[in-house]
Formats: sequence, structure tokens, C-alpha cells
Amino acid sequence: MSEKQRLLTGLQSSGDLHIGNYFGALKPFLEMYEDYDSVLMVADYHALTSVRNPDVLRANIYNVVRDYLAVGVDPDKVIMFRQSDNQDHMELGWVFNCLVTVPFLMQAHAYKAKVDQGIEANAGLFTYPMLQAADIALYNTDIVPVGEDQRQHLEYSREAVGKFNRAYGELLKAPQEKIIAGVGVVPGTDGQKMSKSYGNTIPLFGSTEAIEKAVMSIVTDSDGDRPEHVYAIHRLLKSETELAELYEASKGRYGDLKKALVTDLEVFIEPMRDRRAQITDADVQRVLTEGATKAKVISNETINKVRQAVGIRL
Ligand code: ADP
Ligand code: TRP
Repeated sequence: MSEKQRLLTGLQSSGDLHIGNYFGALKPFLEMYEDYDSVLMVADYHALTSVRNPDVLRANIYNVVRDYLAVGVDPDKVIMFRQSDNQDHMELGWVFNCLVTVPFLMQAHAYKAKVDQGIEANAGLFTYPMLQAADIALYNTDIVPVGEDQRQHLEYSREAVGKFNRAYGELLKAPQEKIIAGVGVVPGTDGQKMSKSYGNTIPLFGSTEAIEKAVMSIVTDSDGDRPEHVYAIHRLLKSETELAELYEASKGRYGDLKKALVTDLEVFIEPMRDRRAQITDADVQRVLTEGATKAKVISNETINKVRQAVGIRL
């Protein structure tokens, strides 16, 4: 048995990744996952609460796995699998649904936010936190690295586990969230938070031309010698000392500084872009198939105990 604590997180495709995603989420994950007994789950049943197009859902599954492999997640050092390959998630999710109340689920921020935006509140969206609780509890998970937006979902997971244990005996482990501390907010080409919804991104797997185009569009504030938004992105790639020299030598020459940034971005992005291009659907399928087999060994044990405890199994 491994001495390491178990880490589990759920991945949803968030479209074309940008360098804000990398420095805010992927890089911190890469730095920690080998210290744990790590499980990465593609949350496709969760995605079904909002994606109605089967081709999009299918493409998202492949893309999110490809993204993680391309940035350097080693499939031999993590269990990487797809939620829908393991029906234990549905089953424990149902058991949790039978334990929590409707008013409790109605308090979920993520659910309320969707309703406020006028998004149709399907029942899957409503019970989403219980499926997430099942994802986590099936694997005796100790920690769950997530962004700040998921803090409440982890509270919901603990509450589901607590209700179960109070009703049927201490069987499931209560997980702890680990809020990922990235580099802070990476600014986009307009100086606002880089976000795919603002159209101000530098794509993580972008072509040389796409990188160039994005960098050339970075807004340069003309007061002062240093173009701050250029520098803020550059700072992610090079040390302050290295940059001090460059920015001193090219003081006021914004075009040259942008060219230098393009070069440094290219050095950083090229290997990931190349790796990603070489990952085939068959590679992804292989990783997911192996992952599902390993995941089930762990989750089957939990679900069998749960069945026994609730009286489903005679
Ligand atoms: P977007 O805003 O582009 O839609 P998401 O909300 O899908 O990005 O974010 C996915 C992950 O990337 C989250 O963990 C989030 O914290 C991180 N992230 C997104 N944008 C940035 C940014 N500009 N700086 C730092 N981290 C970011
Ligand atoms: N709800 C998470 C998100 O939107 C995804 C997710 C599904 C998840 N199951 C999980 C995260 C289990 C952590 C653990 O990002």
C-alpha cells in the first residue's frame, strides 16, 4: 500500500487553454501530483449537465486528456480515467441524493449562479454536487486540488460523507480541498484578467503566428519606460534579474520588447505544442482504458461496502 495521501481532481474541458490557465492551474498541479497517489477524472457526466452536443462532448473528453498529457502529466504516475467508464459514480451519487435535502442543494452557489443567469436548471445541474461527492468519496480521497470557485462543492462533499457516516457508520473518508495557489491573476493582452471569455488570451498551444499576433496586440501604456502588461507576462517566463537587463537595454522600444517576449513564449510553448500534436485519439483511449481498470479496483471496494451498509446487498 502506498504511504502517500490520495489526491483526486475532476477535469472539465474549458476550451482552448491559455497561458493564464497554465500558470494558474496546470503548473501548480504538475508541481504537486507526484507527491500524492493521484487520480485525475474526466468529468464527462458532469459536463452533460451543460453540453447538449454529442460531438462537442466527445471532442472535449479527448481534448482535456490531450492537454494534460501535453503539459507533462505522466500517465504512468497517475490514474487518469473517464467518469462514465465507471458506473460506481452514478450509484454512490444516487445514495447521496437520497441523504441530502432539496433546500440544502438549493443553497449551492454554482447552481444559484446558473439560475440567476437564466440557464435552464435541469435536475442534473441541481444534484451535481452529490455526483462530485461520489467522485471523491469512492477513492478514499484525502485532498482535492481545485480553484477557489469549487470551495463550496467540497463543503457539500464533506456534508454528504458526514450524513452517510452518521446514518450508516464511519465508512467514507471526508475530503479536504486544497485551493490551488497559482501565480495570481495572469493579465491578458488588454491588461484585464486573461480569460477566454474576454478574447484577450495567449493560447497555450498556439502557433508561432498566433503567439505573435497576441503579443503584438498587448496594450502598451505609454507613461513610463516599461510596458507593464508586456512585462507582467514576460515575468512568468524569466527571472527579474534576466529581465532587468533586457528591459534596460531596450528601454522605451516596445516593439523590440514584444519581439523578445514572442521569442521567449515560443521557447516555452513549442515543446508542449509539438507533444500535443503527436498525441493520437488511440493514445488517449489507451490511457483512459488503463485508468478505468485501475480506478474500478479502488471504487468497487468502496461501493461494495456502501451497498452492504445501506442494505441494498443482502
Ligand atoms: P477562463 O476564464 O479562460 O474561462 P477558466 O475559468 O476555465 O478560465 O479557468 C480554468 C482554470 O484556470 C481555473 O483554475 C482558473 O483559476 C485558472 N485561470 C483562468 N484564467 C486565469 C488567469 N488569467 N490567471 C490565473 N489563473 C487563471
Ligand atoms: N465541479 C468541478 C469543476 O467544475 C469538476 C469536478 C467534478 C470535480 N468532479 C470533481 C473536481 C471531483 C474535483 C473533484 O471544476
